[in-house]
Amino acid sequence: MPRAGRKVFVRTFGCQMNVYDSERMTEALQADGYSETSAIEDADLVILNTCHIREKAAEKVYSDLGRIRVLKEERAAAGSDTVVAVVGCVAQAEGAEISRRAPVVDLVVGPQSYHRLPQLIRRSRAEGRSLVETDFPEEEKFAHLPARAPTRNVTAFLTVQEGCDKFCTFCVVPYTRGMEYSRSVADIEREARSLVDAGVRELTLLGQNVNGYHGDGPGGRTYSLADLVRHLARIDGLERLRYTTSHPRGMSDDLIAAHGDEPKLMPYLHLPFQAGSDRILAAMNRKHTAQEYINLVARIRAAQPDLALSTDVIVGFPGETDAEFEETLAVFDEIGFAAAFSFKYSARPGTPAEKLDGQVPEAVKTERLARLQARIEKHQWDFAARCVGRTLPVLFERPGRHPGQLIGRSPFLQGVHAEAPQELLGRIVPVEISSFGTNSLAGVIRPE
Ligand code: SAH
Ligand code: SF4
Ligand code: F3S
Repeated sequence: MPRAGRKVFVRTFGCQMNVYDSERMTEALQADGYSETSAIEDADLVILNTCHIREKAAEKVYSDLGRIRVLKEERAAAGSDTVVAVVGCVAQAEGAEISRRAPVVDLVVGPQSYHRLPQLIRRSRAEGRSLVETDFPEEEKFAHLPARAPTRNVTAFLTVQEGCDKFCTFCVVPYTRGMEYSRSVADIEREARSLVDAGVRELTLLGQNVNGYHGDGPGGRTYSLADLVRHLARIDGLERLRYTTSHPRGMSDDLIAAHGDEPKLMPYLHLPFQAGSDRILAAMNRKHTAQEYINLVARIRAAQPDLALSTDVIVGFPGETDAEFEETLAVFDEIGFAAAFSFKYSARPGTPAEKLDGQVPEAVKTERLARLQARIEKHQWDFAARCVGRTLPVLFERPGRHPGQLIGRSPFLQGVHAEAPQELLGRIVPVEISSFGTNSLAGVIRPE
């Protein structure tokens, strides 16, 4: 029975896959009678969709739960009850430990089980106790979620692959998300078409190792990510495709070729390299050397010279020396990334690296991160500066801060502001770039 009038508040931590999961969870709850609220104090159901990747991300959940406990007590005093659910990767990693440490929590649900949320909420209320659901269920979650709800967004995420069995020694993902799994082409196409029918013009295909995609395709053939991209590119009305995150080992020849000849595939690639020292890369179990990464980038750039590359890097992996850190900086200068995400190594429970000798002191990590970030900013600045004077196709996504302004994205994923009428929302328009800041470009619309 749908319970009309109930409200759900969702807070999302972590990666784009969690953003996607939160959308799907909210849609499943809407189908069960909930409406979404951005005011946590009005919510009958509070969901924290959590991330376990670094200690800080995981600890944020507990500080939030402290505040939610007070809120739940205040609401109880006023006669309303509140269900509190912790879902996502911390839920998967810590399970029942969460409700032991924070008794305010009614439900702990892993990333593979959130399609069961409506039924779990009912059970927890009926039984008056907290429930933990972290088994990897037999049934496929995607088959049990309602169809995509209408959206007014121009861009959307679409998870095509989940899990990871690469087991980098620092990383919790294989434990929180399970083994690699690819959705079928038919299932993905159905979802893509419904998003495009709703007005979406750009899709970002998501997976922890998206370029390892190998899904069942038409005619019983296994499709690679390149096959999937070419297949989806045939959908009328879909103008742009992106994908993230990729592992260097998964950059197959057909995917590289697609960057050269599939016009809907945007010239932006997020390709984490993690460290510049071969000794550290081996200790991380990345299975490539710095030179192999550099050679790979050269091959991708040969197919698509006008490409924005972004990456992830970790500083202070156990045993990393000053000289090895310098090698990371050297890769930066050699490649010239358009953007990068950098992290201090964080020891994660249950991962092999946690037990390694030579954990790097916090102060050293802080200093290395600051040096790396200065280098990242310099390259980001250089890349943005090279865009000035160019006319780039911009997909307008939303109104800007000032009246008469719209904000869109360049092919390189940079935000672009321009004076533009509302009718251009959802359209791709040539914009001559006139200036830039650290995070965005500004320009003037040019006639087509
Ligand atoms: N599947 C992706 C990344 C997933 S996690 C890949 O293989 O590249 C996103 C980023 O978080 C990683 O690329 C890594 O740079 C960072 N990360 C993962 N575990 C970490 C840890 N224990 N400490 C610090 N950063 C970490
Ligand atoms: Fe983690 Fe490595 Fe898998 Fe990426 S490839 S999700 S870093 S184990
Ligand atoms: Fe975090 Fe889980 Fe994503 S650990 S980065 S939310 S896959």
